[in-house]
Amino acid sequence: MVVATKQQQLDELMAQILVNNPCPDLAAQATQLVFGAGNPNADVVFIGEAPGKNEDIQGRPFVGAAGRFLDEMLDSITLSRDDIYITNIVKYRPPENRDPYLVEKAEFLPYLQSQLGIIQPKVVVTLGRHSMNCFLPDLQISQVHGQPIQSEGRIYLPLYHPAAALYNGGMRQTLIDDFARIPSILNNIKQ
Ligand code: URA
Repeated sequence: MVVATKQQQLDELMAQILVNNPCPDLAAQATQLVFGAGNPNADVVFIGEAPGKNEDIQGRPFVGAAGRFLDEMLDSITLSRDDIYITNIVKYRPPENRDPYLVEKAEFLPYLQSQLGIIQPKVVVTLGRHSMNCFLPDLQISQVHGQPIQSEGRIYLPLYHPAAALYNGGMRQTLIDDFARIPSILNNIKQ
C-alpha cells in the first residue's frame, strides 16, 4: 500500500475545500483560497484569523505587515517559514478585513482540524483571540498569553495577534517576550 505524504494529504484537503465550498459567501467575494503554507512535517503550527488584502492577492498566509513582523520574531528564535506551518481559521478574506463571523469560523473548523490531524504538530500557536477561542473557548487571551495549555491531547500556546501588537508598544514587547518562550516549550515537549 502506498501511503500519501503529508503534503499530498494537505493537497487533497485543499481540493476538498474547493469542491465542497463550505463558505460560499466569502468565497464569492475573495480572489482565492488561502489554504496554508510551510513545512507539513513541522513541530509547530501557527494559526491566524483570516487572510487580509495581501494574502488574498498572493494566496499565502501572513505576507503583509503582520507577516513581516512574524518573520522577524521567527528569526529571533532562529526559525524560518520552512520550519513551521502557518494557516488561518477562515480561509477566504472577509470583505474590508472585518472580523470573521461565528458561522464562518464554524464552517472552516472541520477543515482546520483535518489540517492539524495531518500535520500532527507538537505545539499549536494561536495568534489572537479568535484563533485561541476556536480551541480554548473559555479563556481570556490577556490572562493566558505566553502560557502553554494542554487541551484534548494537544498543547496550545496562545499569543497576541502580530497585527494588533505591531503598533502597540506594550503589546509588541509582550508578544516578543512570549515568542522567546517557544524554543524551551518545544524542547520540554521533545524530552
Ligand atoms: N492576519 C491573519 O490573521 N492572517 C493572515 O494571513 C494575515 C493577517
